Amino acid sequence: MRSHYCGEVDGSIANTTVEVCGWVHRRRDHGGVIFLDIRDRTGIVQVVFDPDTVESFATADRVRNEFVLRAIGRVRLRPEGTINPEMATGEIEILGKELDILNAAKTPPFQLDQHSEAGEDIRLKYRYMDLRRPEMQDRMRIRSAVSARVRHYLEAQGYWEVETPTLSRATPEGARDYLVPSRTHPGQFFALPQSPQVYKQLLMMSGMDKYYQIARCYRDEDLRADRQPEFTQIDIEASFISQQAVMDLTEGMLTELFSSVLNVQLNTFPVLSWSEAMRDYGSDRPDLRNPMKLVDIADVMQSVEFKVFNGPANDSQSRVVALRAPGGADMPRRVIDELTAYVGRYGARGLAYIKVNSLSDGAAGLQSPILKFLPDDITQQVLARVGARDGDLVFFGADKTKVVNDAMGALRNKLGEQLNLVEAGFAPCWVVDWPMFAANKDGSLSAEHHPFTQPTCTPEALLEEPLAAQAAAYDVVINGYELGGGSLRIHDQEMQAAVFAALEMGESAQAKFGFLLDALQYGCPPHGGIALGLDRLIMLMTQTQSIRDVIAFPKTQTAACLMMAAPNEVEEQQLRDLHIRVRPLAPT
Ligand code: AMO
Ligand code: AMP
Repeated sequence: MRSHYCGEVDGSIANTTVEVCGWVHRRRDHGGVIFLDIRDRTGIVQVVFDPDTVESFATADRVRNEFVLRAIGRVRLRPEGTINPEMATGEIEILGKELDILNAAKTPPFQLDQHSEAGEDIRLKYRYMDLRRPEMQDRMRIRSAVSARVRHYLEAQGYWEVETPTLSRATPEGARDYLVPSRTHPGQFFALPQSPQVYKQLLMMSGMDKYYQIARCYRDEDLRADRQPEFTQIDIEASFISQQAVMDLTEGMLTELFSSVLNVQLNTFPVLSWSEAMRDYGSDRPDLRNPMKLVDIADVMQSVEFKVFNGPANDSQSRVVALRAPGGADMPRRVIDELTAYVGRYGARGLAYIKVNSLSDGAAGLQSPILKFLPDDITQQVLARVGARDGDLVFFGADKTKVVNDAMGALRNKLGEQLNLVEAGFAPCWVVDWPMFAANKDGSLSAEHHPFTQPTCTPEALLEEPLAAQAAAYDVVINGYELGGGSLRIHDQEMQAAVFAALEMGESAQAKFGFLLDALQYGCPPHGGIALGLDRLIMLMTQTQSIRDVIAFPKTQTAACLMMAAPNEVEEQQLRDLHIRVRPLAPT
């Protein structure tokens, strides 16, 4: 049906006859001559019809945007002055001879080149139109190329792709499960996997040695720009492997992907310990493109009278930090107030600051509501420690460690953007040496990664002081996004039971993971792995703001599909077959 894709027509085939197919991107009538921009996934080419070709001219006159066409014509170089440098095919045009309308189209719900005005809901409702946009097609092309490269890279290293079930049991990644009712087992439900974690470990116990899967995962959790209810992982596991080897494999793969798909050469990934990351950036997924760091000043503030600082300075569960915003001294009060409200969302009860107008003028060169509470020598000591210079603004956070980390970490990101300090490009890093558990508000524990992560201590030490236990876990972070996480796994039944006990999962662990505890006793090799979020990777590689932009058919923020109107009610008979009665919603 066609001899060339639209984007392939160029000067090298001038004077030959070509046949192209595609959609009408734009139609212009220049008094007697009709220009059709015809688009396919490779690009756009201009086809010109003049009244000499009576029949095709009449057809060209009838077409409208998004009609589907087949055009035959002769390629010719555009005359000087009509060359369009904006278009890849801008040096040529096709002089149309024949034109078939393969299908008409209703007026599109939005013009493709005005998609941003249309709003995301309309774009999601008519996703098949939105996906026609060249940017969207490019993202899908990159996604496909990345998947192919991943498979190629891992196969070359001896990894086998094994598919694991999606009708499964609850898997513990910390979100709610999506459930599927069983017709054949009344009152019982499958869970869609939150990840293939347990299966991939069982595959190691099955002697598969090296596994990978480009796997669909399901999590019913609060959605954000980087989270979808169903998403895709590049899931990897290997036996008899060290943490360093998993990290090398992953880093090698990412470096190869960025190089082959984007022609971007990544530097060796720096490795930060979790404590360093929290200390310097207040975050376990620091954006290293941003040069700002939090600086601890509790030691200097221990003896000041200012309660806001000396309380936390003398409490081991708290932190006092300074954050230097280079060139921030001209920030208006209104903006500082906005930032104060912003850190308030993370629990900060205030945001003290010092404007550094002129260091050589001592206290007179500074401006701040807290100067009166601080002795001059202390102020100077702090300014020296953060490396303050004239024109800087220094912010302070003092509170419980978690509040300071959350608030000042978020402030660091915000200021990086506001003050234009974030470098272009990609800044990957590893975060290692994670704590095994985090304490919940009610004093119970949650696994920082998941309960199958190998602690670096003995089971006894783990149970004695669980919050001190470290895990052989590692995350790979790029530009402030957690791209992937993994760990060495527990391969010993006693340790697994200790972790379940620390998580107070005693009996339920037996019910939920009895099969795993059993399997651990039938010859389980030491093993470990990682999973990378494919959607997040493509989002980063294509520099988009949301993973919705790199998923062909994503869900909305409320986890619905606007195009198919899913989820939806079902027939009464279907519910009966599934032994389900829907409770009426309680009046609100
Ligand atoms: P984790 O829960 O960290 O680890 O998930 C791995 C990676 O998957 C991506 N991801 C998501 N992407 C989009 N939407 C979501 N809702 C979502 N949730 C997670 C992230 C994340 O880093 N089984 C372990 C891995 C292992 O230990 O090997 C796991 O699933 O990029
Ligand atoms: P106050 O004495 O509460 O009026 O606070 C004096 C200054 O300290 C104000 O600029 C507050 O924004 C700031 N401040 C109050 N609490 C904190 C805190 N926990 N961390 C940092 N700054 C604070």
